[in-house]
Amino acid sequence: MEFFLDTADVDEIREIAAWGILDGVTTNPSLIKKSGRDFKKVVREIASICNGPISAEVTALDTAGMVEQGLALKAELPENVIIKIPCTPEGLAATKTLSDKGIKTNVTLIFSSSQALMAAKAGATYVSPFIGRIDDTGHDGMNLIAEIMATWDNYPSITTKVLAASIRHPTHVLQCIQLGAHTATMPAKIFRQLMKHPLTDKGIDGFMKDWADVEAAGNA
Ligand code: E4P
Repeated sequence: MEFFLDTADVDEIREIAAWGILDGVTTNPSLIKKSGRDFKKVVREIASICNGPISAEVTALDTAGMVEQGLALKAELPENVIIKIPCTPEGLAATKTLSDKGIKTNVTLIFSSSQALMAAKAGATYVSPFIGRIDDTGHDGMNLIAEIMATWDNYPSITTKVLAASIRHPTHVLQCIQLGAHTATMPAKIFRQLMKHPLTDKGIDGFMKDWADVEAAGNA
């Protein structure tokens, strides 16, 4: 399973990339706004930290505009940048055009398995169902991941990866793993939570105290 960071904060990206298991980064216009930085400059820097796919989102709403922006981003930004496109009919057409040109895409804002399947048919490299935003409406976002994975099982020729997004807590990630989602994108806080266990910390404390005694006894 691939683990992506969902942020445009380069300090967080450096921190998690140093762990050696970061597979990619997703950004969106809201995360770029939060970074307070120039869009292309920050994406360029992210792409220099992580050599996996870095999603940069188009902001045009018409097909021609999305294609134009996607081509411009591919021309100006590093090779590992992929184009994030909203799941609308116009976005579907742009995904088809870009994927026919061999450009990798991430179709975002997916809230139903029919949207995921149509994006896959358009040649999307990734589809991004938003779990947390569904949970926020009082429904279970994980059902969407289960439904999409079942759809993928029915059509083994689909190569599009299911990128679980809008992840709010570590349990979301564990459930996605159990359902076989290919990728999960999450904030740095969740990466840290996935690695943290009080018994690991307690175990290290105990070993360090005992080792200090071994050293004090001259037995190290
Ligand atoms: C995914 O690519 C999106 O950037 C992200 O996961 C959205 O998450 P949010 O619902 O926490 O904004």
